[in-house]
Order: sequence, then C-alpha cells, then structure tokens
Amino acid sequence: MSETNWNQRYVDGDTPWDKGDAAPGLIDWLVGNDMNPDSRILVPGCGCGHDAHAWARAGFETTGVDLSELALNRACERYEAIPGLAFFPGNFLQDAPQEPYDLIFEHTLYCAIDPARRDEYAKAVTRWLKPGGHFLAIHFTFPLTEEGPPFGASREEIIDRFSDKFELIEEWEPRNFEGREREERMFYWKRK
Ligand SMILES: C[S@@+](CC[C@H](N)C(=O)[O-])C[C@H]1O[C@@H](n2cnc3c(N)ncnc32)[C@H](O)[C@@H]1O
Repeated sequence: MSETNWNQRYVDGDTPWDKGDAAPGLIDWLVGNDMNPDSRILVPGCGCGHDAHAWARAGFETTGVDLSELALNRACERYEAIPGLAFFPGNFLQDAPQEPYDLIFEHTLYCAIDPARRDEYAKAVTRWLKPGGHFLAIHFTFPLTEEGPPFGASREEIIDRFSDKFELIEEWEPRNFEGREREERMFYWKRK
C-alpha cells in the first residue's frame, strides 16, 4: 500500500474530510463536560485546526499536531490568535511529547493511517498521554476495506485494540456532519 502524501492532498485541495468546522460530536461533548479546566489537550492529525480551536474556545490549553505543513499554516492563519492554542509539526506515530497530555482527542486520524499500523497508533496514544489521562475519539465504523483512506473499523476491533491499556468509560453514536450519519461512533476511555 502506498503512503498517502498528506501535504500534497492539501496542496491539491483534495480534502473532503475538512468541513470547515469542529466535529458536531465534539461540540456536543464540550457542553457540560466535567473536565478539570487545567487539563492540557492534544489533537493529533489536527489538519486545519477546527477541532483544536473548539477545545481552546472551551478554555483548555490545546496543542494541534500534524504532518502537513500546509494544513498547519492554515490552522495558524485562522486560529493562532486564540489564547492557549498552538500548532506544531509532528508525527504522532513516531514522536514523543516533552510532557504527556491529560486528554487526546481524535477525529479522522485512526481511519487515515494504514490499518497495519493500528497497534503503533494505540502505543502512540499511550505514549502521548499521562497515566490516568483520557482518550476521546470519534471513529468511522464502516467495514474495513482495502481501499482508503479513510479505512473503516468495526466497533469490536476498536474495543479490542484499546481495552488492554484503557478502560472504556462510555461509547455512543454522536451527532455527525451531513453525509456521515450512522458511520461514526464516539468512545471515551481512561488510561489504566
Ligand atoms: C483525514 S485528515 C483529518 C484532519 C482533521 N482531523 C479533520 O478532521 O479535518 C488526516 C490528517 O492526519 C494527518 N496525519 C496523517 N498521519 C499523521 C501522523 N502520523 N502524525 C500526524 N498527523 C498525521 C494528515 O496530515 C491529515 O491532516
């Protein structure tokens, strides 16, 4: 399988995932959550920064990380004036944080990486997160196909992949962008 050149996708304007706004499931979750306001949030694969911006607007110190220089430039242009929000280039699967985070929020990164690298992804979540930290994820749950990205995943596969190192607190069907109805599931985990 050939590696996706993510920066080139942004250069070509071939970014159907970018809806210009934060994920509806995240917007709903941020209303009335009981997170400690001092929590530091990481959004890996943040793209143009819409989800990271929603976290910062909700008052949390937030870092967005992505491989694509162009996506990060767009994120900075649009959102960097927001207090407590920063964007950095980085490879979530390979890098390690200077200081691990209290919560990782994922949206359309797991489905973007080669399914053969999903164990690496699960290890990366553990590496970037403090012990006892939280992992909040919106996953595509359509069947896994050879063609992608996006690559689907079953609910069972996701639960198997993370249950070793994480306790599942809650899972539900979130509100979606138009066209993604019944294709997404949201999971809230705590690192053991
Ligand atoms: C499908 S896009 C989703 C972007 C954003 N989450 C959104 O919903 O608009 C996947 C993003 O993950 C980034 N990405 C892919 N592999 C990555 C990795 N190993 N580390 C960091 N970012 C990565 C890509 O550059 C791209 O911006």
